[in-house]
Amino acid sequence: MNMSSDRDTLISADENRAMFDRIAKNYDAANRAISLGMDRRWRRKAVEVLGPVAGGRYLDIGTGTGDLVLELLEQSPSVQVDGIDLSERMLDIAKTKASEKGVGDSVSFFKADATALPMRDACYDGIISGFCVRNIERRRKALTEMHRVLKPGGRLVVLEAVYPQRTWVRFGYKIYTPFIPLMGALFGSFSAFRYLKESIEDFPQSEQVVEMFCETGFVRVERCPLLLGAICIFSAERTF
Ligand SMILES: C[S@@+](CC[C@H](N)C(=O)[O-])C[C@H]1O[C@@H](n2cnc3c(N)ncnc32)[C@H](O)[C@@H]1O
Repeated sequence: MNMSSDRDTLISADENRAMFDRIAKNYDAANRAISLGMDRRWRRKAVEVLGPVAGGRYLDIGTGTGDLVLELLEQSPSVQVDGIDLSERMLDIAKTKASEKGVGDSVSFFKADATALPMRDACYDGIISGFCVRNIERRRKALTEMHRVLKPGGRLVVLEAVYPQRTWVRFGYKIYTPFIPLMGALFGSFSAFRYLKESIEDFPQSEQVVEMFCETGFVRVERCPLLLGAICIFSAERTF
């Protein structure tokens, strides 16, 4: 956590938005390379945990270049999805990808802040968010907003990279992660991908993330660890 202000992140929301605007063009390719192609599988699993219902309305928070939205529509073509993000460059790419896939009518991408959602209460059947919560300046505020716009009985799914807890997995993490900024440099930004590594190490342990979900009103909070605990799918529900 940042000690010099009351924000939860190492950099401000404005710095974060500028960083994603800067790397938007190479984001997908960098993601594939750094995750060794596993990110698609993680998103697929996250959408399976969400369990979209036919005809439902869903929200993707910090949609970035829209991969979770596309996965949602792949698994459940009759849903309607809103994808929000602070970075207009990331949203531009998401819009292009959705229209190239011919799913533009099922999705609406627009600029909005997770900590001040411009939607009415209880309007979504489910909410998903991939690799975004770690980047949100005030995470409890965002979770409270997600709880507000979720219908009673609806499910929230958060896919995140977390600092592994088991010693031997942490050993592997420590060997691999110094290469992340170097790979980032190949995709145009050493500093953005150094931030990725630092933000993972700064992010709360998964037990604390669960506590945060409970404190903001969610129930039935569960964790599904992937990649030996270096990736985690958190799921939770809004009670009836
Ligand atoms: C690492 S990217 C993840 C993109 C995408 N969800 C994925 O799975 O690849 C994180 C995204 O969260 C967005 N973001 C960060 N803080 C946000 C906020 N407060 N509200 C909305 N989006 C935010 C960033 O602009 C960025 O596009």
